[in-house]
Amino acid sequence: AETVVRRDRFAGGPARGFMSSLAADERIFAADLAVDRAHTVMLAERGIVGDDEAAAILAGLDEVESAGHGALPDGEDVHEAIESAVVAEVGPVGGKMHTARSRNDEVAACIRYRYRADLLDAAETTLALREALLDAAAAHADTVLPGFTHRQYAQPVTVGHFLSSYAGAVERDTARLLAAFDTTNVSPLGGAAFGGTTFDVDRERTAALLGFDGVVENATDAASARDFLVEGTAALANLTATLSGLATDLIEHAKDGYFDPSDDYASTSSIMPQKVNPDTLELARAVAGDVSGDLTGLLTTLKGLPRAYNRDLQRATPHAWDAVDDATEATEVVAGAVATGEWDADACAADAGAGFSTATGVADALAAAGIPFRTAHEVVAEAAAAAPDDADAGTLAANLDSAAQEVLGESLYEYVSEETLDTALDPAGSVAARDSRGGPAPAAVVDSLAR
Ligand code: ARG
Repeated sequence: AETVVRRDRFAGGPARGFMSSLAADERIFAADLAVDRAHTVMLAERGIVGDDEAAAILAGLDEVESAGHGALPDGEDVHEAIESAVVAEVGPVGGKMHTARSRNDEVAACIRYRYRADLLDAAETTLALREALLDAAAAHADTVLPGFTHRQYAQPVTVGHFLSSYAGAVERDTARLLAAFDTTNVSPLGGAAFGGTTFDVDRERTAALLGFDGVVENATDAASARDFLVEGTAALANLTATLSGLATDLIEHAKDGYFDPSDDYASTSSIMPQKVNPDTLELARAVAGDVSGDLTGLLTTLKGLPRAYNRDLQRATPHAWDAVDDATEATEVVAGAVATGEWDADACAADAGAGFSTATGVADALAAAGIPFRTAHEVVAEAAAAAPDDADAGTLAANLDSAAQEVLGESLYEYVSEETLDTALDPAGSVAARDSRGGPAPAAVVDSLAR
């Protein structure tokens, strides 16, 4: 009698919905079918089940697949529900499918099988984003743009240089996602509940059938490990942090009139008729919050869990699904916004020298003429302090000369020609001179893009 009661323990009760992961498991429905098939084939190859029995099970799985996740009987999770459906289809022989395994190695295999595909999708969108950044960078290699530090005008750069800076970050995001893919892509099957199995299973065979690169060696580790989800979600958190910074820069550049998001990626105001708002970029920026929340959710769920399987793990998984879905969508949207937005070269140029942002280039020119850089810095700082924010090149040149008289006791033109100074004070000339590898000069940007 007790056995019957225990078998029925999922038949009802107030905690039924709380315990079941069946709805969330729709995501791993196809994965579970693949895992069931691989396991069944291996069992037959090893003579653990008969060929006819395996054939019946595989036929049952085909039926279950055609009917779809929605047709599954109610159950504690997709693994139990698919097994029940197969048994209903082909009779008690269907129960042989669960020989030499547990739901613990089964669910871990399903999550890894699905997650590796999701990671590849995410990595692919990072490639699309990188391509959008690099294409726009190439188109604007020589478009001069104000560069900021601390949100203050700092040095003129180029749109190409600014965008390439994010292409570099996204390149590392791709690499991190692929590293997480490698960690994910190993098979826990054959670990059973956590203690291995008495059956003569071929773990390498199920791994190969499912396209895994190898097996998780230790049976307990196989059932327990979810660090691959942490690794993937951390990579996604990093990616969305990159996206959020890019979004903020583009939002600021839109506000200043440098960048104009296309209508597809902008929104209007319901009351202010003149507004074109960069809403997609704001939403993409917010996704960094969701994904770092998912990472925190995962880590705090996993922290302190003992070996081996604990049901807490069921609530860890959805954080990983949410993170990869949100990050992938946000990456796609930002790639589209970058690819379709336009840069206003005149608006960029108009502000490129603002706030005496050519000052560093002037100090470099003085240092190149033999004045110690620290002294040159002092001369230029003195001239900057005396200049109004919107000072033109003529005013700055005059200020620089009087600062030189004061600091050096002689005219600036003892060191540099008028032409050299004019070039250093011109934003385009200032950028063109910074042609060190990885620098903002159009020629350097073109070289970097080629590399
Ligand atoms: N549904 C569970 C999960 O998502 C897997 C089943 C393992 N359950 C168990 N009682 N051992 O983690």
